[in-house]
Parts: sequence; structure tokens; C-alpha cells
Amino acid sequence: MNILIIGSGAREHAMAWAALRNGKVSRVFVAPGNGGTAMMGGRVSNVPLKATDVDALYDFAVSEKIDLTIVGPEQPLELGLVNRFRSAGQRIVGPTCEAARLETSKVFAKEFMRRHGIPTAGYHIFHDVAAANSHVERLAAGSWPQVIKASGICAGKGVIIALTQGEALAANTAMFESRIFGDAADEVVYEDFLAGQEASVFALTDGKQYRLFLAAQDHKRIGEGDTGKNTGGMGAYAPAPLVTPDVMRKVEERIIRPTLEGMAAEGYPYTGFLYVGLMIDNGEPSVVEFNARLGDPETQVVLPLLKSDFVDALLASLDGSLGSVPFEMHDGAGATVVMASAGYPDAYETGAEITIDQAVEGIGGVTVFHAGTKQDGQKLVTAGGRVLTVTALGGGLKEALDRAYEGIGKIKFEGAYFRRDIGAKAI
Ligand code: AMP
Ligand code: GLY
Repeated sequence: MNILIIGSGAREHAMAWAALRNGKVSRVFVAPGNGGTAMMGGRVSNVPLKATDVDALYDFAVSEKIDLTIVGPEQPLELGLVNRFRSAGQRIVGPTCEAARLETSKVFAKEFMRRHGIPTAGYHIFHDVAAANSHVERLAAGSWPQVIKASGICAGKGVIIALTQGEALAANTAMFESRIFGDAADEVVYEDFLAGQEASVFALTDGKQYRLFLAAQDHKRIGEGDTGKNTGGMGAYAPAPLVTPDVMRKVEERIIRPTLEGMAAEGYPYTGFLYVGLMIDNGEPSVVEFNARLGDPETQVVLPLLKSDFVDALLASLDGSLGSVPFEMHDGAGATVVMASAGYPDAYETGAEITIDQAVEGIGGVTVFHAGTKQDGQKLVTAGGRVLTVTALGGGLKEALDRAYEGIGKIKFEGAYFRRDIGAKAI
């Protein structure tokens, strides 16, 4: 069986690693991949095609007789890559562009949740600066903070939390007039601020049936103690103790099932991975965001914790047998810590040589997944903001974290930055 994985992050490296565990897999292609997937060798090769080049990816899938395609990031989903593959009979895991609007349009997602009674923060939608400003001027004193979001996709960075009226007016100007988020802020959502703690739940679904991975917790801010700018995610751990069996039951009953039923009823059955970003307050979950894919870095901990076979589960999701395929998790816990380039999430330099001590993979349960790396002759160099993630499994979270940080200590590049407090809140 030949597999094509679309994307270039550590999430896609982890997917390639998980795919190799299936003995029926003869080749894994990663488009475009990264330095880590390039170095896997054997059955894995990179393909120099952009994740957004839908036509070229489709032609590649046909010419290389790809049996299963997995989409990592959101951009190809928005471009209708799944629609294109599926209409030509190519087997692919992911939602159509219509279904992916749960992520690619926050306006769609909020209105969908309102139509289906799915718990989420109250909101208002604006299309121009005048309407947004007059809303801000009318807000009562007790309404702050307000969460202001560009509706379109912004790599996790299109959100401003305004503490005061002045900050909200400045955000309106920045989004509608300075266009800091470009077309993504043609529509802007104002949300009430939700108190509580965040966690993410991931489902694999065929549109009706679904299976759940372990709940994870990401660390979105760049700084320790959850301070500073938002990033794509600086580390994650699973299972998240916050998502108790009771919370998970509520998430299934109030969020996942009505979402799948609602999307099917509206004519856009949702297939592939559904990422439910939650705020949990006193055991009551509400939706902060949906994503139409697996999370990064959450995948780097959630997939290593999947004990049963990943590829078999994906195939079952295409064959109508998702309900009966083995879908089991390892006992214990996992953690993943991101190493980033100095300056990320703002401007950063690339091209720094990376050295990885061979001993790193000798530490029990440790795996290194690459993101912004590339091969430069014999060297491995940095090529992005998030450079790599170090994942470790352990009997408990403390052991997993100790192992991940021991692994981090064996990887060097100039300006390497990582948070030292991943998972600290859960211990
Ligand atoms: P999003 O891109 O919608 O996930 O938002 C990015 C981050 O902003 C989230 O991970 C939360 O930390 C924060 N956030 C978003 N919406 C809200 C909300 N309604 N209340 C509180 N925090 C929020
Ligand atoms: N880690 C957050 C995301 O993948 O959107």
C-alpha cells in the first residue's frame, strides 16, 4: 500500500512514523516533508510539491498509485483538495472544503453552533469598522475582556483579547483598516470571554461514526507561565486530566454528536479528523474553536499514545467499519516539547546547524519529530520557526516530561528556545 501525507510539520513527521508501523505499507510519500522525513529513508521519501498545489498533488497520487492520502494542514482543505481527490475516486482522509468551514470560517462555525445548540461563547459578527466600533462603544462596563477574531485562517494567530474599549477600537482599526490579518479579517467575530482551562479532543470520523483519541493540552503562548504572544503551540501532553470521563461524555453528547449530525443534515457530512478546542469551567465544556485536522504539536503526543494501528483506523473510516476497528491507547502518558528558533513567533533567522546526539533515541520512549528543518548537504539546518518537537512516553506524565527534557538536552542549535514548563500545571 502506498501512502501520501500532505504537509511539512512535525505533525506530518509523526503521521509518517505512525504509518510505518503498518506492515502492509510499502511506500510513504510526504509532500513536501522536512529534514526529518527526508532522513527517515527506507520506505519514506519527500516529494517536492507544495501542500497547496492541489493539481500537482492529484497528478502525483494518480501516477504513483497512491492508495491512501492523509491531509495534515488546513490550507489544502480550504482549497478543496479533498473534494478534488474524492470526485476522482482517490481515497483520502479529510473534510471537503464545505465541511472544513468549521475551521476556515469562524463565522460559519459560530452560526452553525448557534443553529445546533452547541455550547460556545456568545458572539457578534462585523463586516466593517464602523459597525464594530459602534458595537464596542455600546458595550456595558462588565463586558470586558472581549475576544476579537479574524474569521479566516491565520495559523492560530488571528485572535486579539481586548481588555478595554480602547484596545478593542485599536483592534478594529488593525483588522479592518491596517489589515494585519489580510482578507482573513474581512469578517470579524466578537466573542464573550470564557473563563476556565483549555483542552483539545480529537475525533476520527466517517461522518456518522467516530472514534476518540486521548484528550491533550497544548501550550499556545510563547512564554513560560502562559505569557507573551500566541504561537502555533509550544508543547503538549496527554491524557489531559482536566477531561475526566464525565467531561468527555458531555463533549460527546453536547458537541461531537450534534456537530456530526448537524453537518450531515445541512448537506456537508464531516469526515476526517475533527479537532475540538474546549474551554472547561467547573466541568462544563464549551467550544473555543473547531479545527478540521489534527493539532500540531498535539499529534506528536496523541499518535505515539495510539496503541492500535493508525493506518487500519484510517482505512476503516473510508470503508464504513470505523465502529469495529481496534482503537486502543497505551497506558501511561506522553509529552512533547517544541524547540523553536530565537524570535519566533515574530521574525527569526534560519540556516543554523542542528546537532542531534544519537543517544537521544536511546532514552526510553523518546522520539524526535522535525518541523522547520532541512537537509543542507551533509548538515541538518533550521528552516522554520518551530524547528522540532521531542516526544516522550512514560508511566506517568512526570516520567514522560523528564524524558522529553532529557532529550531536549541532547539537541543543539544556535538560539534554540523552548518552554521549560510544559505540563507543569498537570503535575
Ligand atoms: P482560537 O484561534 O479561536 O482557538 O483562539 C486562540 C486562543 O485564544 C485560544 O486558544 C484561547 O486561549 C483564546 N480564546 C479564544 N476564544 C476565547 C474565548 N471566547 N474566551 C477566552 N479565551 C479565548
Ligand atoms: N496546536 C494548535 C493547532 O494545531 O491548531
